[in-house]
Amino acid sequence: MEKIIITLDGYSSCGKSTLAKQMARALNYIFIDSGAMYRAITLYFIENGIDYLDDAAVKAALTKIHLAFDYNASTGSSDILLNGRNVENDIREMRISQLVSDVAANQYVREFGVAQQQQMGLQKGIVMDGRDIGTTVFPQAELKIFVTADPSIRVARRYLELSAKNPGITKEEVQANLAMRDEIDSNRTFSPLRKAADAIVLDNSHLTREEQLTTALQWANEKITAMSVR
Ligand code: CDP
Repeated sequence: MEKIIITLDGYSSCGKSTLAKQMARALNYIFIDSGAMYRAITLYFIENGIDYLDDAAVKAALTKIHLAFDYNASTGSSDILLNGRNVENDIREMRISQLVSDVAANQYVREFGVAQQQQMGLQKGIVMDGRDIGTTVFPQAELKIFVTADPSIRVARRYLELSAKNPGITKEEVQANLAMRDEIDSNRTFSPLRKAADAIVLDNSHLTREEQLTTALQWANEKITAMSVR
C-alpha cells in the first residue's frame, strides 16, 4: 500500500491531537504533534531568558535547541525531548500556553519548526497536527483535514483536561487563553492559521471520538486506495 501524508489543522483545543494520534495508530503511521515543538521552544526561551522579540537572541538560541520525539509505551504516544530532556508534561503548563503563540509567530522560530517538520515527512506515512501543516509544511499532502468545534465545547474539554493536573485553574482562564492564542495564530504574518483550500472540514462538536475517527479513517482509506491503484 502507498503511504500518504495526513495533515490536521485547526483552532486551539479542538481535538486535533487526539484524532491524529488515533489515526496514526489505526494506520500504523507516525504521529507528530507540531504544537509540542513550539511549546518546547517556548520552554527553552523561558528557562534561558530569551526575548522572542529579539531576533538576534532568537536565532542564537535556536542553534542550541535540539528537539526529538521518544515513544512512550505507557501512553502509546511520543513524548517530546528538549536537548535530551523529556518535557512532555512541562510544556502543557499554563505559563507555556500564555507565551507559545507569541514565540511561534517569530519568523525564525517558524523557519526552524517548518524545516524539521518537513524532514519528518520525507518518508510519508505520517499524521501531523498543527496550524499551518496543510498550508505551509505539507502543501502537497494527500489528505488535509481542518478540525473545528464550538468554542464553548473546546473550552469545556480543555478545562477538564487541565483541571485534573491544576486544581486552581478556572474556566475563564482557559477560555481567555484559547481566545488569545486563536487570535494571535490567525493574524500573524508568517504562516497564519488558515484552512487550506483543499482541506475537508470536520466539525466534531457533537461527535464522539469513535465517530470522528471512523469518518476520518474513511477519508484516509479512500485516498490510500486511490493512490495505490494509480
Ligand atoms: O493547545 P493546543 O493543543 O490546541 O495547541 P498546540 O497544538 O499544543 O499548539 C500550541 C501553540 O503552538 C499554538 O497556539 C500555536 O501558537 C503554535 N503552533 C503553531 O504556530 N504552528 C503549529 N503548526 C502548531 C502549533
